[in-house]
Amino acid sequence: MTQDVAAEAARRRTFAVISHPDAGKSTLTEALALHASAIAEAGSVHGKGSRRGVVSDWLAMEQARGISITSAALQFTLEDVVLNLLDTPGHADFSEDTYRVLSAVDCAVMLLDAAKGLEPQTLKLFEACRARRTPVITVINKWDRPGQEPLALLDEIEQRLGIVPTPLNWPVGTAGDFRGVMDPATGGMTQFTRTPGGATVAHREALDAEEADRRHGLDWERASEELELLSSSGQTHDQDAFLAARTTPVLFTAAVLNYGVAELLDAVTRLAPAPGAWADVAGRTRPVDAAFSGFVFKVQTGMDPAHRDRVAFMRVCSGRFERGTVLTHSGTGRPFQTKYAQSVFGRERETIDEAFPGDVVGLVNAHTLHVGDTLHSSPPVTYPPLPRFEPEHFAVIRPRDSARAKQFRRGIQLLDQEGVVQVLVSDRRGAQAPVLAAVGPMQFEVATHRLEHEFGAQTILEPLSYSVARRTTSRAAPAVDTTQGAEVLERSDGTLLALFVSRWRMGTVESNLPAGSLLPMFGAPDQDVA
Ligand code: G4P
Repeated sequence: MTQDVAAEAARRRTFAVISHPDAGKSTLTEALALHASAIAEAGSVHGKGSRRGVVSDWLAMEQARGISITSAALQFTLEDVVLNLLDTPGHADFSEDTYRVLSAVDCAVMLLDAAKGLEPQTLKLFEACRARRTPVITVINKWDRPGQEPLALLDEIEQRLGIVPTPLNWPVGTAGDFRGVMDPATGGMTQFTRTPGGATVAHREALDAEEADRRHGLDWERASEELELLSSSGQTHDQDAFLAARTTPVLFTAAVLNYGVAELLDAVTRLAPAPGAWADVAGRTRPVDAAFSGFVFKVQTGMDPAHRDRVAFMRVCSGRFERGTVLTHSGTGRPFQTKYAQSVFGRERETIDEAFPGDVVGLVNAHTLHVGDTLHSSPPVTYPPLPRFEPEHFAVIRPRDSARAKQFRRGIQLLDQEGVVQVLVSDRRGAQAPVLAAVGPMQFEVATHRLEHEFGAQTILEPLSYSVARRTTSRAAPAVDTTQGAEVLERSDGTLLALFVSRWRMGTVESNLPAGSLLPMFGAPDQDVA
C-alpha cells in the first residue's frame, strides 16, 4: 500500500489528558473512546472499582492501590481522523513519567474538577506543557455536581496560568444542575439528557435560542449574558493564539454522564494540530514526509508477568513505519530489527504493520532501547534527550544480601534506563550504595518492588534529608561537596547534581560560588527555579 505520508500525518491528532488525580481522567478516556466507538460500552477501559480492567493494571501493586502507574496509547478513528490518546499515569508521584509522555504529544487536554479548579498536579503539568509550548485545551469536568462559578474558574485560569481562556461552549445551568451547553457559534444550545448509569452515549438535542429560552429561562439568560461578557472582553477562540499557547479553549463536561464529550472530541479533531516537522538536537527540523524517524518516550518492563518482556514506546516523527524493516539506533549506529511491533493498550496487544507520524509503536523486547533514544532510516537524525523533572526525594539503596549484588546492579541499571527513578552515584558512596532520586516517594516503592520481584534482590532503603537538586559544574562540585547539608553526585547521563537539605541552604552555598555554578534542571518548570 502506498499511502501518502503527509496526508496520513495530516489526519492524525496525538494528545494526552493532564489532570490532578480524581479529576476524572479515566472516566473521560472511557467516554472519549465510547464516543469514538472504540469500545461498545463505557467501563471497559480502566480498571477501577467494579469496572472491568483492560488497561494499566499490569503490576499487582497498581491493582492493590487502584492507581495507574504504567501508561500506553489508545488509537481510535473518528470519521476520517485518527486520534492517538496517550495515557498518562494517574498518580502525582509519577509526574516524571507524564512529563515524558507530554514530550510525545502535539496537544494536551487539561482536565479540571469544577469544584476544585486548578490543583497542584495540574499546575505542574501545565508548566510542563508551557515549557514545550504545547497547545492546551481546557475541560472543566463534573459539572453535574455543585462547583464553582464558571466565570470564577476562568478567572483563576487566567490569573494563575497566565493564559487566556476562550470558551468554546458555556454551561446552561449552574454546577450541579447541568442542562446542556450554549454554542457561541450557532447561538443555540445542545441539551443533554441522562442515560441510565451513563453507560451509553448521552442523548443530545439541538435547540435554537428561542426554544432554549423557553425551556431553560433564567439559566439560559444567565449563560447568554456571561458568554457575551467574555466575548466583549475578547475571550473568543483564535486558532493562531491557541496554537501559540497564548490562549486555551475551554469546554464543560460531566464525563461520568458523557455530557459534553462529543463536543470535546469535535474540538480535538478540529483544533488540535496535526503532527508537524520535529526538531532534532541541532534545532533542524525533519518534515513529516521525510524518511522514517521516531523517538522512544517510554520503556516498560514486565507488562506481561508471564513473559517478562520489555516494550519501548516510540512516537513516529517522520515517514512511514513498516514492521520488519531494519532501522538505525542513532546513539550506537547499530541496526535495530522491528519485527515485533505492537500497539499496546493495557492487556490488549495487536501487531502493527505500519504507522505514521503521530502514532505510537510498542517495540517488544527492545533491550537495547532507552528512554530518549532515536531510531531512523537514512539520512540519520538524533532528537533531543527528554527533559527530566526536578527530584525532591532522595534515598540510598543497598542490596540486603551481598550475594545478590550482581542482580541488584543489573536491576538498578534497568530501572535507571526505564526512567523509573534517577540513579546517582559518587566515589564516596560507592557503586553498591547508589542514591535514588525521585519526584515522588512512590517511585521508590516501585523500584524496590521490582528489584525484589523481577531481580530477586531484596533491598534496604535509607531516606536522605535532601529536598532540592540543581545541576552543577565540575569546577563548583568540590566546594559544594565539602559543605555541610550538601552533596554532589553523578547521574548516569553524566550530569552532576548538587543536593541540598533545603532551599535556604542552597541559597547560602550559592552566594559563595561563582555565578552559574548551580543551574536549574534541564526542562524543569519555571516555578521550580528558586
Ligand atoms: P482520575 O482517573 O482522574 O483519577 O479520575 P477517575 O476517572 O477515576 O474519577 C474519579 C472519581 O470521579 C470517580 O468516582 C468518577 O466516577 C468520578 N467522576 C469522573 N467524572 C465525573 C463527572 O463528570 N461527574 C461526577 N459526578 N463524577 C465524576 P469514584 O467514586 O472515585 O469511583 P467510581 O466508583 O465512580 O468509579
